[in-house]
Amino acid sequence: MVRFRGLSFYHWAVRPALFSLDPERAHELTMSALRQPLLLKALRSAVSLPDNSRLGQRVMGLPFENPLGLAAGLDKQGTALAAWAALGFGHAEIGTVTPKFQPGNPRPRIFRLSADAALINRLGFNSAGAAQVAKNLAAASARGMLVGVNVGKNRLTPIEQAVDDYIRAVEALHRYADYFTVNVSSPNTEGLRTLQQAATLRTLIEKVVAHVRSVAGNRAIPVLAKFSPDSPLPDLLASVDAALEAGASGVIATNTTVARDGLASPATLTAEAGGLSGAPLRVAANRTCRQLFEHIGRKVPIIGVGGIFTAEHAYERIRSGATLVQMYTGLIYEGPWAPVEILRGLGARLERDGFGNVSEAIGVDVR
Ligand SMILES: Cc1cc2nc3c(=O)[nH]c(=O)nc-3n(C[C@H](O)[C@H](O)[C@H](O)COP(=O)(O)O)c2cc1C
Repeated sequence: MVRFRGLSFYHWAVRPALFSLDPERAHELTMSALRQPLLLKALRSAVSLPDNSRLGQRVMGLPFENPLGLAAGLDKQGTALAAWAALGFGHAEIGTVTPKFQPGNPRPRIFRLSADAALINRLGFNSAGAAQVAKNLAAASARGMLVGVNVGKNRLTPIEQAVDDYIRAVEALHRYADYFTVNVSSPNTEGLRTLQQAATLRTLIEKVVAHVRSVAGNRAIPVLAKFSPDSPLPDLLASVDAALEAGASGVIATNTTVARDGLASPATLTAEAGGLSGAPLRVAANRTCRQLFEHIGRKVPIIGVGGIFTAEHAYERIRSGATLVQMYTGLIYEGPWAPVEILRGLGARLERDGFGNVSEAIGVDVR
């Protein structure tokens, strides 16, 4: 990689330019760049993906080429799949998709906490709607990468009718999903997190799983539940048990946090309402991963997400019990070469520690 004064081209040129813009504007520019055929071609020739059989594993019946995925929220409308595949991700999670179009909260609604390598967002599920996202996915080519679809409810749907929204989203999108994520943990849709409560979640997952089975025919599409890092541990474990008993094939931990502990950024920023992601989430997300692994072991896979910026972070999360990992904020701070650097570093660490495959390292620090 080209370096200048020890910094990558991204760190000395691209990131300062993007960080001089409003965060959502920077996001929109990046997303439209990532859809340009010329840039995609350049990315494909510049990024050399590690060909490392240690990194591949079958999880929930699906062939993951490597354990690193793009976390939900970056490509909410599913318009840049080819770019995520080109960057080296083994899977990308699209969404959150709501059944109907909705604009989300008023802007500004993404805040950059550079001193903390973090973001706060309160986007509130800005979604093109399930029918449009289905069209986007139908037109996309993901080349070997798996695609998860994360679904949620529209803001105006009463919480008692939330299950209908999840079902409508699944109905519209099942042809394009290798797995579904039931998002019950975004802090930016009023009442959403109450769906994590064990009894409510059990019914929700049961109905979504039954519906997925009825529409997907012979194709078994796994359904996962995504959890918040803010629930007290007994509640979280009760919810996870309920989700698994109801037929969930995996859990994703964690979504963003409403906590604001130990931040270095100015109070004007840290006081913004929304979910915090990035470096300050890493320790809590890692702890949650260990606690979940202690509780469920290898019964179903844990997808570990929150504060992963480097190979060391990804390796730590896997050793804490994650079968797969995802990143969002790390990509913003570390740039487009981060996924390949993480995968290379992960391969090197597995080799150093004598693991023939990534699956052998899962949870070794917890057992
Ligand atoms: C701007 C932004 C938007 C997000 N939108 C969603 C979303 O729509 N659905 C979801 O499940 N998670 C969403 N997330 C949460 C991420 O998927 C992830 O769980 C969280 O950011 C922690 O990972 P990170 O520290 O690598 O960013 C969003 C995160 C950010 C920063």
